Amino acid sequence: MPNAQELLDRKEQPQRPRDAMRQAILARLQDERANGASMVEAMQALFPRTILDDDVLEHVVSSLLAGGNMLVIGPPGSGKTSLAKDIWALMPKEVWAIEDCPVQDDPLSLVDPRWGEQVPPCPYCKAKYAGVSLKSLGDFDPKSVDPRKVPVRRIRLREGHGFARIQGSPEVFPDNLTGAINLSKLEQVGDPNSPLVLEPGKVMQANRGVLMVDEIGKLPRGTQNVLLQALQESIVTPAKSRETFPASFLAVTTSNLDDLDNINEPLNDRLSNLFVGFNQDHGKNRIIVDQGLRGERSAAVPEVLREATVYLIEEWRKTTEGATELLEVGSNRTLIDILNRAESYALLRGAKVLDAEDWRRGALDGMRGRIRARGGDSYHQNRDVVEAFVGKRAKEAGQHAAEDYWCKFFAEVLREDKGDGKRFVAEAREAQKRGSPTGDRIGRFAEYVKAQEHDARLADGQAALHVFALLDGFGAFEERGK
Ligand SMILES: Nc1ncnc2c1ncn2[C@@H]1O[C@H](COP(=O)(O)OP(=O)(O)OP(=O)(O)O)[C@@H](O)[C@H]1O
Ligand SMILES: [Mg+2]
Ligand SMILES: [Zn+2]
Repeated sequence: MPNAQELLDRKEQPQRPRDAMRQAILARLQDERANGASMVEAMQALFPRTILDDDVLEHVVSSLLAGGNMLVIGPPGSGKTSLAKDIWALMPKEVWAIEDCPVQDDPLSLVDPRWGEQVPPCPYCKAKYAGVSLKSLGDFDPKSVDPRKVPVRRIRLREGHGFARIQGSPEVFPDNLTGAINLSKLEQVGDPNSPLVLEPGKVMQANRGVLMVDEIGKLPRGTQNVLLQALQESIVTPAKSRETFPASFLAVTTSNLDDLDNINEPLNDRLSNLFVGFNQDHGKNRIIVDQGLRGERSAAVPEVLREATVYLIEEWRKTTEGATELLEVGSNRTLIDILNRAESYALLRGAKVLDAEDWRRGALDGMRGRIRARGGDSYHQNRDVVEAFVGKRAKEAGQHAAEDYWCKFFAEVLREDKGDGKRFVAEAREAQKRGSPTGDRIGRFAEYVKAQEHDARLADGQAALHVFALLDGFGAFEERGK
């Protein structure tokens, strides 16, 4: 087993979690850039689960580089939790720790006087290696430690050891964060110096890594105060104990807009606030849909319906701007949900490809399912708003998406030849009546569809006719009265 002396010999540098994070991010960005990614592509690559507008990405990255603890604010379903998870994933997981330490102490805390002052080791390690008894009042002096006698191990930060997650709610009491000395266990073991009597709380568990606090504003004030102390001093005192334990971590917290007022002022001051709203960038919203639908699907989801979903929700966001109660209806979650619901309708019909009606019903279900309201009346009112919206806008969103699809085919394959375009539409309508996808232009359309859709169920002539029917049904070939 290696010992702390070897770390000193190798001149290992002590690191706070935020420094480890900064290094990891810089290295990743450099890698991505070296592989030809643009700066925004490189920044997006840091957060594979969470697709964000370029300016938001920049804020997130700069705030992480600045080493700040973060408060991610935004409407429901904008990706706050998912961003927090991505940030934890970025954290380098391998660290040196003192063997058997209940809070994975940094060995340098014990043997590097300057570091030991900034980030003191836990009372158990002090007792074991520096002769400081839990009961006596001896001061910890790193010089009294023999580094060769401190066994160290390379460990992997993981849940409970360098990572902890708190779901904010009124039932999360201070003890959940501070941990406690288990008195009945103490009676059993009889030795206050035994780590067995310690029940490490969340902030201790997070030591050396990341603490994720979802919905921080929902925590009771007292619990928020524990967090504040940990952020200010990197220490925590367990309940029923007079000893302090290290609690050095990077905090990534989230809050909905509604709960912001419930966050303690001084706590909020220690968190760099970052707004993650819904993306403005259409292409990014589209990627969210594609990511959400990844994996085996029970029915194929044609491109045009994916696009239509994004247009529909973008329109909703525009029309409900400011109405917080209705924001959630247009969340990123809803983007995905609409198509999941639509897929269920296709499944119920025994169809292998979604049609426009499946999609319209999916949109209604997906959006209605996200209505939050304080009372029955406002629920019914909001439901009426959603139903009226879908009734009016679904067709438009569909048409928008269908026109995009058609324009691309028209430009790329038919080379904007108007005559060819007209003949294609006439032939395809004929083919539909016959139920047989034959003819040169239809063949080219089928090839195009196959390349666009990336789904084996949309790779033949019949499927191409199905896509054509979607386009036609949405009015892609109508001359719009402009
Ligand atoms: N920006 C995004 N990029 C990719 N997927 C997203 C994004 N936002 C939301 N999603 C999808 O929606 C789901 C819900 O997102 P998430 O839980 O991160 O939202 P949230 O902002 O934490 O919501 P809440 O306020 O309700 O807790 C995610 O699992 C993901 O599938
Ligand atoms: Mg969340
Ligand atoms: Zn320790």
